[in-house]
Amino acid sequence: MNVIKVMTVFGTRPEAIKMAPLALELAKRPEFEATCCVTAQHREMLDSVLDIFGLKPDYDLNIMEPRQTLSTITAKCLNGMDSVLEETTPDLVLVHGDTSTTFAGALSAFYHKIPVGHVEAGLRTYDKWSPYPEEINRKLVGAIADLHFCPTAANRGNLARENITKGVFLTGNTVIDALQTTVVKRFAFADNVLNNLDYVNRKVILVTCHRRENYGQPMANIMTALRRLADAFPETELVYPVHLSPVVQEVAHKHLDGHPRIHLIAPLDVREMHNLMARCHLVMTDSGGLQEEAPALGKPVLVLRKETERPEAVAAGTVRLAGVEEEAIFQMASQLLSNQNEYDKMAHAANPYGDGRACRRIADAIAWHFGRRETPPEQFGG
Ligand code: UD1
Ligand code: UDP
Repeated sequence: MNVIKVMTVFGTRPEAIKMAPLALELAKRPEFEATCCVTAQHREMLDSVLDIFGLKPDYDLNIMEPRQTLSTITAKCLNGMDSVLEETTPDLVLVHGDTSTTFAGALSAFYHKIPVGHVEAGLRTYDKWSPYPEEINRKLVGAIADLHFCPTAANRGNLARENITKGVFLTGNTVIDALQTTVVKRFAFADNVLNNLDYVNRKVILVTCHRRENYGQPMANIMTALRRLADAFPETELVYPVHLSPVVQEVAHKHLDGHPRIHLIAPLDVREMHNLMARCHLVMTDSGGLQEEAPALGKPVLVLRKETERPEAVAAGTVRLAGVEEEAIFQMASQLLSNQNEYDKMAHAANPYGDGRACRRIADAIAWHFGRRETPPEQFGG
């Protein structure tokens, strides 16, 4: 029997973290011939993940440039994918989530009449402009894809409302698979600032912020609120690994440099990030991935956005929407820092996003779809 040729395509840090465990799962199964193409929409932040998971891409489009525009990313991915798909002729292309790489990867496969599997399918805010451009990217990929791997039942419900009911699998999020391999009891950070922090007696707040819809005034508001928090609560230490985007670098350093308890550091590798999260007191972020990881580690999260496509942890009580206004962010964080009861209400482990078996279910689903397995994959939570 022929092997099933599956190509994973990804390009940014979060896609890599969530696709690497799946690429490795496919590579170890005899029914698949697994190949991997990175667009390198991110460069350093992608390479760090590839190193940690020991994943060697077969193709690298190397498209990143400073301050790249959405059109350039999409055009370069589409052009680069042509020869890769012509050479490899995969039976299935797997893309992840909602980035420009995701959209271009799916579109390119469609142009070549190759079926598409969408990992992390069905997330929606129903606001075209937030997250921008991700909400539209994932809707477009939903329209193109033949197989949809939904992390949660709510994601599957979103697809059903768009009449997408065929080829839909409830798998859990592969980020939880990744998380289960990275967090350890004793961990030495590369940066001594992190080794020397007193995680027991101080309140370490882990911050990240990078979203395009937060560029400009919202990001300035967020940074001002963070500085006020550090001033108002002397027991806090803010650790902020700053995204390499020049836009983000500029605003973070402008507002937060020179404070003795605000630590602006380089992006962390994924093992460092997960172990820091496991040790911190509170997470403040506009990241999607952190909203999924922190609840699994029992850490409260304040989301620095107006909405979230990840309502499950809000329902579980471990995530709250803080918005993008300075006063609201300051007040919400102040309440958690000064009221132990409020903090305790949020600080409990919740795992609405996965159980560590998402990659296995996705690989099983693909094998089943291609007639190489008699039973459908088990469902997450079922
Ligand atoms: C992208 C995704 C976003 C995702 C985020 C994860 C799109 C439209 N956006 O946004 O959905 O949440 O990645 O981080 O696809 N840079 C470097 N080195 C790197 C990475 C980035 O220098 O390793 C700099 C470059 O100047 C680049 C800029 O960051 O131009 C922005 O990167 P880009 O991929 O365009 O957007 P992100 O904001 O990272
Ligand atoms: N992450 C990391 N180092 C950092 C910041 C984030 O390894 O300095 C990880 C984080 O743990 C999560 C993923 O990157 O797995 C989230 O990526 P990002 O916030 O860039 O994108 P999003 O999830 O918002 O699309």
